[in-house]
Amino acid sequence: MDIQTLAARVDEIWAGEEAADARELVKQALDLLNSGAIRVAERVGGEWTVNEWVKKAVLLHFRYSDNREMTAGPIEWFDKVALKTNWREAKVRSVPTAIARYGSFIEEGAVLMPCYINIGARVGAGTMIDTWSTVGSCAQVGKNCHISGGVGIGGVLEPLQASPVIIEDDVFFGARGEAAEGVIIEEGAVLAMGCYVAGSTKIYSVPEGRELPPGRIPARSVCVPGALASRDGSHQTYAIIIKKYRDERTDARTALTSILREGI
Ligand SMILES: CC(C)(COP(=O)(O)OP(=O)(O)OC[C@H]1O[C@@H](n2cnc3c(N)ncnc32)[C@H](O)[C@@H]1OP(=O)(O)O)[C@@H](O)C(=O)NCCC(=O)NCCS
Repeated sequence: MDIQTLAARVDEIWAGEEAADARELVKQALDLLNSGAIRVAERVGGEWTVNEWVKKAVLLHFRYSDNREMTAGPIEWFDKVALKTNWREAKVRSVPTAIARYGSFIEEGAVLMPCYINIGARVGAGTMIDTWSTVGSCAQVGKNCHISGGVGIGGVLEPLQASPVIIEDDVFFGARGEAAEGVIIEEGAVLAMGCYVAGSTKIYSVPEGRELPPGRIPARSVCVPGALASRDGSHQTYAIIIKKYRDERTDARTALTSILREGI
């Protein structure tokens, strides 16, 4: 079945059509997602487009799958979604206790430190997902990014919002930061430690001398956590402050170490 037909069938099943082959069709979609052949969001002509039907397939997968016991030595789980396997074949270095659920896609040459990658998420080639970071369901992380220790990238299955978080290529996301609610971190942006970005988080740019629209961190910007005064001056709220755009000093402090990505 071609992908367009599969998409149309998944839409029908989502809308309530009783189909004898529903389980099989949803499984086909999950297998394609797992292999990277389809994705939840993709850039078309410079703009990010969400493939709604893929998100529907991910949710339907929960309806049509049964919980079952899974074990690793003495450790046991009880869940509907299998874990990804075959790391050698995928040419991905996956450090013990890294967990990626089936239906996520990790591109060749990525490195997973002990982290958690949820269903529908995508991680690009050469990207390091560092220790205790979580890549939420359907989140999209580009190539050659460093997602530092303890970073949280929000998922979109609950609540079922329109867009996943998108981290474009070459982004450095400093330790313990968080991105949620479909924000887009554009190519080459650098977020210092502890930056939290949600859909309404205020973004102030020092180089531009003004507040920028929320929801999008500009390409190559260097962001730090800060605060902005409220309109009536009665209080301050947390804000992302763009201090500058990337320069040689930033590049030196955020450079990726190729030796960690060699020999996979
Ligand atoms: C963002 C970062 C890369 C610095 O980039 P840089 O280009 O060298 O930045 P600079 O030192 O030139 O600082 C530029 C401005 O931002 C401010 N700044 C830099 N880092 C900051 C931080 N973490 N918090 C608050 N302000 C910060 C500086 O004080 C300076 O302000 P000024 O212009 O008013 O003097 C660095 O601060 C950082 O957060 N590194 C990430 C560490 C990390 O998470 N490692 C991974 C561990 S797993």
